[in-house]
Amino acid sequence: MRVIVTGKQGQVARSLLERASAYGIEVELVGRPDLDLTDSGGIFDGLAGRDADVVVNAAAYTAVDRAETEEDLATRVNGTGAGLVAEAAREMGVPVIQISTDYVFDGALDRPYREEDAPAPINAYGRSKLAGERAVAAANPDHVILRTAWVYSPFGANFVKTMLRLGASRSEVGVVADQRGAPTSALDLADAVIAIARRITGSRNRAGLTGVFHMTGGGEATWAEFAEAIFAQTARGGKPVAVRPLTTAEYPTPARRPANSRLDPSRLREVYGVELPPWRESLKSCVARLLAVSSA
Ligand SMILES: NC(=O)c1ccc[n+]([C@@H]2O[C@H](COP(=O)([O-])OP(=O)(O)OC[C@H]3O[C@@H](n4cnc5c(N)ncnc54)[C@H](OP(=O)(O)O)[C@@H]3O)[C@@H](O)[C@H]2O)c1
Repeated sequence: MRVIVTGKQGQVARSLLERASAYGIEVELVGRPDLDLTDSGGIFDGLAGRDADVVVNAAAYTAVDRAETEEDLATRVNGTGAGLVAEAAREMGVPVIQISTDYVFDGALDRPYREEDAPAPINAYGRSKLAGERAVAAANPDHVILRTAWVYSPFGANFVKTMLRLGASRSEVGVVADQRGAPTSALDLADAVIAIARRITGSRNRAGLTGVFHMTGGGEATWAEFAEAIFAQTARGGKPVAVRPLTTAEYPTPARRPANSRLDPSRLREVYGVELPPWRESLKSCVARLLAVSSA
């Protein structure tokens, strides 16, 4: 199987590249400057003619707070651009896997969100990603939209790396404790994307395999609990960095975040037999890897 992945430098794209060899599949990463999602003509030129069994769109405008003042740009990338990637995949005659987000929901429900729950984004990034889901679904009937959340990895910028940086110079860090979600390892996500890609490319009748699916690490946490788990591992027998619980109101950000980011992963398990490992297990190996790099 040959997979083309957009978003070359991103966490998910780099994780897919790293995991590909374990499955004996070929992953080609494409990204800026060769493939820019704001350049509609360039998307077709960048993808057409390439040999692929499936296209994964992991490129996105991911600066959630900056999107509040750059919504047009975020929408060009995450909305229009995602739709054009899906259209290019359709012209290539292959399915598209689109990565989406928990931020399409407002977070007001008191249970994990299911795929059929009505989206109602409360920030510009969420609106741009929802536009992308709709554009992808309209452009290519062979689409799998995977909503995930709280993604971290050894690559790029993410919450784990931020906590490790802050914890290196502080004895206490204030972290939001009234938003719930599930930390998701991009490497686990990559394993799951590969399993989905194999199944969908190997199926003639794809009707039951397409649509929207929720996919996050197993279990749930608040950001403060996520931070505590990171610091428990960096303590190495000493006193861990203390986590001071904050309310969302005490930590204002330009973009509002949903209080409930939990996504129900049942459909993914039922249709694809795919389930991500418990978040604490995956976090351990990522933190160990990052600590090994920093002490080398
Ligand atoms: N990170 C999370 O917590 C999270 C949560 C839920 C969903 N997601 C979704 O998961 C997917 C992957 O996220 P990630 O964490 O891997 O993101 P990331 O590390 O921020 O990487 C995003 C990639 O998109 C590329 N990109 C941005 N604008 C582009 C454009 N105009 N044209 C082409 N490429 C562009 C960036 O390229 P440059 O390197 O050139 O800037 C970067 O390589 C995204 O769809 C995101 O919305 C992420």
